[in-house]
Amino acid sequence: MGDVIFNILRYDPDSGKGPQFETFRVPYEKKDLTVLDGLFYIVEKLDGSLAFRSSCRSGVCGSCAMHINGKHRLACNTQIASLRTQEITIRPLAHVEVEKDLCVDMDLFWEKYELVRPYLVPGSPPPEKERVQSQEDREELNVVIDCIQCASCYSACPVTLTSEEYIGPAALLKIDRFVRDSRDGAHIQRIEQADGPYGAWRCHNVFACQCCPKELDPPRSIAHIKRRLLRKRLLGGEK
Ligand code: FES
Repeated sequence: MGDVIFNILRYDPDSGKGPQFETFRVPYEKKDLTVLDGLFYIVEKLDGSLAFRSSCRSGVCGSCAMHINGKHRLACNTQIASLRTQEITIRPLAHVEVEKDLCVDMDLFWEKYELVRPYLVPGSPPPEKERVQSQEDREELNVVIDCIQCASCYSACPVTLTSEEYIGPAALLKIDRFVRDSRDGAHIQRIEQADGPYGAWRCHNVFACQCCPKELDPPRSIAHIKRRLLRKRLLGGEK
């Protein structure tokens, strides 16, 4: 099967040099070789100084998100065969500071994520056993629940680049996730938070965040929040 060519955008802020592509050849020895396998081959056999993140190696932790052949993808979840080419170009996530090579500074992303209280805020005292939810109410969450905080949507959004305070698509999707949750008791506060100057209205409908490796749809969540906000303004209430 020959070799796979990895063109990787490398950058070390401490080196004094600008970013530049470096090319590596990785033997294509097994059909199910993933991009992450290739990166591990490079770091183990060719250049131990290459920096990237990974943890679960199964599409769950979100740490290996990067820009691969023009799309945001999870390196562990991307088989070379699926790319239909043996030449691969990899860049780190955009709109965030590069710490080294494919590792980016996620601090601002996490700050905004924490700001929206990404956990259930119960609206009633703890029940004896568990907070039950009807099947119908649980199904309401299907379209928002699989976020793995990989920051692909955040990195793709041009507004996060121009407005540092904008909380961004991942945090807005998380607001939508809990606003849809029948067990959550903080709907009003959540929806009011999304109404702030750096919330849902800051989104310019570019739809660049429609790039989720887990196939979630942040623009749909933002539109859902905006509809709730309009209803609140027009009807003067939020249930
Ligand atoms: S290593 Fe966890 S999602 Fe890829």
